[in-house]
Parts: sequence; structure tokens; C-alpha cells
Amino acid sequence: GYWEGSQTTRRNGSLSMASVPSLAASVRQRVSDALSAALPEAASADPLLRRSDRADFQANGMLALAKQLKGNPRELATKVVGALPENDEIKDVEVSGPGFLNITVSDAAIVRTLAARAADDRLGVPYAEHPGTTVIDYSQPNVAKEMHVGHLRSTVIGDAVVHILEHRGEKVIRRHHIGDWGTNFGMLIQYLIEHPHELDHETDAQGAKDAGEAAMARLNRLYKSSRAVFDSDEAFKARARDRVPALQSGDPETLALWHKIVDESKTYFQGVYAELDVEVRDEDVVGESAYNDDLHQVVKDLEESGVAVRSEGALCVFFEDVKGPDGTPTPLIVQKSNGGFGYAATDLAAIRNRIGELKADTLLYVVDARQALHFRMVFETAQRAGWLPEGAAKQLAFGTVLGKDGKPFKTRAGETVRLVDLLDEAIEHAAGVVREKAQDLTEEEIQDRAAQVGIGAVKYADLSNSMTRDYVFDLDRMVSLQGDTSVYLQYAYARIRSIFRRGGEAAKPVPHPELELAPAERALALQLDEFGDTLATVAEEYAPHKLTAYLYELASLYSRFFENCPVLKADTEEQKENRLFLCDLTARTLHQGMDLLGIRTPERL
Ligand code: ARG
Repeated sequence: GYWEGSQTTRRNGSLSMASVPSLAASVRQRVSDALSAALPEAASADPLLRRSDRADFQANGMLALAKQLKGNPRELATKVVGALPENDEIKDVEVSGPGFLNITVSDAAIVRTLAARAADDRLGVPYAEHPGTTVIDYSQPNVAKEMHVGHLRSTVIGDAVVHILEHRGEKVIRRHHIGDWGTNFGMLIQYLIEHPHELDHETDAQGAKDAGEAAMARLNRLYKSSRAVFDSDEAFKARARDRVPALQSGDPETLALWHKIVDESKTYFQGVYAELDVEVRDEDVVGESAYNDDLHQVVKDLEESGVAVRSEGALCVFFEDVKGPDGTPTPLIVQKSNGGFGYAATDLAAIRNRIGELKADTLLYVVDARQALHFRMVFETAQRAGWLPEGAAKQLAFGTVLGKDGKPFKTRAGETVRLVDLLDEAIEHAAGVVREKAQDLTEEEIQDRAAQVGIGAVKYADLSNSMTRDYVFDLDRMVSLQGDTSVYLQYAYARIRSIFRRGGEAAKPVPHPELELAPAERALALQLDEFGDTLATVAEEYAPHKLTAYLYELASLYSRFFENCPVLKADTEEQKENRLFLCDLTARTLHQGMDLLGIRTPERL
């Protein structure tokens, strides 16, 4: 992993890479085999096994199956029980209700499976059977502009999805499709030509906390001054417009100034990424400009194949079901009537590159749901042109961040919220919580932990909502120690680590399959068993919120275990070692899960 400093690495030094099927999967297989033995027509039917409060698992697949085959579900269930061969995993099965199976597994089987997981650096989590190549387009801020709260979502979700897919063995190519091209650069560059020292001004940058903020302050100033002239001076406006073709055709003086602006912005972006604790590699920043040279070919191919047609001078693609309020069709515009290319042309060129050159099987776009129509039309166009296999591209559309008033999050003055302001506020908020909890820390330690807690809280709140939903940005709730928050999970982790510190050298985690488990131990252990299955679902469905839900449940079951089962003061040495074993595996699972989400797990809080 790329987090340094974890102390939860394995102690005996041996490396292993054994994927461990979950106990749940193994029980499911046994029931499924028994089902096909009892009823050959039912071969490969899913027994629908899931965790249950009444036993460890419940299988209710017999109900639908009996109905389908016009049989009696209780009879079928009884036959399945009879067909289950003797084994040391399933301790008890009973038919209940209209035809469920209630299944209890043996304590020894639970501990043995977990022991196999614990012996593996990946916690036994299997790789995908058929990994492919995914290109993911995320965190795509715009040059010369501030990053705002919408870029928070794209960055945090994209980063988590990258790590989740990579963890499964998928080859992931990251693309930060930054807005670094277009007509507004004409204005900025022309102004710079006429005021060569504009970007050297340090006046506005003086209060800036780092190089990134200083760069953004200079860009804001450039934007404001050039905008003012652009709006008031027709001659300047004309010169600014003429600058655009100079940029597009690669005039050296124009390009040099464009580079200067882009570099200032990249410095600013990196400052925000550092605060957000997200790694963005320079080679993955492939902005709109990168496709400039392909645009003519894209247009030519679309026109020649008839996928796009000229309409009032513009090159358009029409869709049966995309119409404006007055019923007239709203086309995707690939080339404007003045010959200029837009956002859509660039996205089409990017698809050709990603499928054709990068050989991607899957294209993901982590972009605001408000761009859903754009992507639907772009994907459909690329399919018609034969550039994109059906179903290969998917927008991971996310909802809007709302203020406490339920409206899109704005400052009091009604402006969009700068991402840095929001992050600063989260860290400050977290500092309050950290200060209250730990009295004996230096100010530096407080700030350090506050950053891990505050940024973790913002990420967790963002990821724990299902992606398409809007959510309310509420720091009090996000940084709360109670409830479904990252702080709660970070505390659970830190508390486990403190047990090992207090227990010292003597605190040895050793599994003891011969011991009987208390109910709270079983519940915790069975949740640990589900880690690999959960990660598979999370990756297949691109659903990080299912990972947060899993981890929250794990932390909750851990605290119930902790209240009910003394660890360092356990009755026997074996029981102590076995409980320490559960503690250690819980900590490692929390750490691994949070790591995939991009959230730190400090050793102490
Ligand atoms: N730069 C755009 C914005 O800030 C997002 C770009 C999304 N990606 C894409 N391939 N169109 O809204």
C-alpha cells in the first residue's frame, strides 16, 4: 500500500499470497451441491445464502425453486439437509418456516478460515478472475480556475475506485481530463502578451499559505484584469478572439504563455491534492489540449460515415429521444458553425485514444450527474461510429453537495465554495475534537492528527452516500465520534492498537480453533470473514459506499465484542491470545479497508 507507517504489518516476516475463500462461500457451495444432489433439475441454482440473526446463515433459495418446480419447499429443504455430506464446517442445519435452512457453522471452522486470512498479506482477498484494463477519468479541474466542491467528489470517489480496482488486480490507467483548452485562453494569453508582468505580481499572493495558493491568487488576478478589459474594450475582445486560432495551430509565443498558465494551475492543483491527501501523478494529467491534433480526423470520420450531419453550419449528431422543451431535437454539437471544436469533440477523441491506443476494456467517467445527458450522447455517438463497444463506457455519476438549507452548497455571498476553504474548515473542526480528546499533545501533533481526522471525515461522508445521491455538507455530523463516521472507525482502530501497546510483548495474537466462541466473538469473526466478498461486490458495482457500510458494521461489532469479552484480562492464556487474534485481524481489516478509501488510520487518537 502507499500509506507508510502502519504498524499492523505481519510480525513473523513471511510473505504469502494465498487467496482464501470465505466460509460463507464454502458453505454456499456445500448447500448448492446438496441441492443438485437432491434435485438434479436444480443444478447450479443459487441457494441464496445470507447472514442471519437466527443462526449464522440462512438459505432461502429452496422457496423460489420449489415454487418454480411446483414442489413443496419444506420437503425440498429436508431433502437438501439429507444430501449434505458429513463435514466439519457445518455444525447444525435445520429446516424452518416455510422452507428455509438455518445453518450454524462450527467455531473451529470460523477460526481456521480467519487464521488462513491472517497469514496472508492481502488478508486472503482474492484477485479478480479475469482482470482487464480500465481507464478512469476523474478529478478534472479547470485551468486558471479554483477547484470547488464538485471537484471534491470527483477526486475522492475516483481515488477510491482506482485503489479498489487495482487491489483486485485490474490494470488501471488514470486520466485527469483537465479543462486546459478553449476560447477563454485567448483572453488570458492576449492579456499576458499586452501585460507581460501580470503573472509576476506577488501582491495578492502575500497572504497565501503555500506556493499553490500563491499561484492561484496570481491566476485570479490575471482572470479579473483580463475579464475587465475584455468586457469593456471591443478592440481587445477582437484581439483575444484572434488569439484562439494562434493557440490551436501551435504558434510558439502563444503556446509558451499557455504553458505558463497551465503550470501555475498545476502548482495550485498539487497544493489542493496535498491537503486532500490524494496522489495525482503528473503523467496522468492528460487534459483536453492533448486531443487537439485528433479533432479534425474525428470530425472528418463522423461526417463521412454519416453519423454526424451539418445543420445550420454546425456538425451535429441527432438522437431520437433527446429533445428540447419545445419538441425540437437537441443534437450533440461536434463542431460549431464557426469551425471551433467543443467539449464533445474532445471527449470523442479521448474515447478513440482510450479504446484504440490504450486498449481499455472499460472506460469510467467520475463526473457530476448533471453531465449525464452529455455522456449519454457522447457514448452513443462513439458506438455508432464503431469506436466504442456497447456497454464499455460508464459514467459514475455523482450527486450534488448541498448546504444545510438543502440547496447546492454556496457561500453566504452566494458563490461556489472553494475546495480549500472547505478543507481548512474541516481540519479546524477536527482540531477541536482532537484537542478535547487528548490533552497531552503538542500543537504540531494536534494539527497532524486534525488533518487525518478532518480530511478522513470529509472523504468518508462523501463516500458513504451512494454516489448518485445528493448529500448535505454538515461538519458537526461528519466529525462526530458517534455514528457512521470515519472518526468512529479511526477510534476503533486506535483503541485496538492501544491494547497491543498496553499488553506489550506479551500481547500475542494466536488463533485457537479449539476454543468455544462467545456470541459477540462469532458475530465479529463472521463479519471479518466477509471482507473479501464485500470487496468483490464493491469493485464489481463501483460502490465504495458498500465498503464504508461494511467497515462501520465491523467497528460496531468490534465494540460489542470489546464490551462483552475481556481481552487482556481473559480467563485463560489461550482465550487471551485468541481474542488478541480477533483484535489484530479487525485492526488490519479496518486499516486495509480505510486505505482503499484513501483514509488514514492513525495509531493513536
Ligand atoms: N472539467 C470538467 C468540469 O470541471 C469535467 C471533465 C469531465 N471529464 C470529461 N471527460 N468530460 O466540469
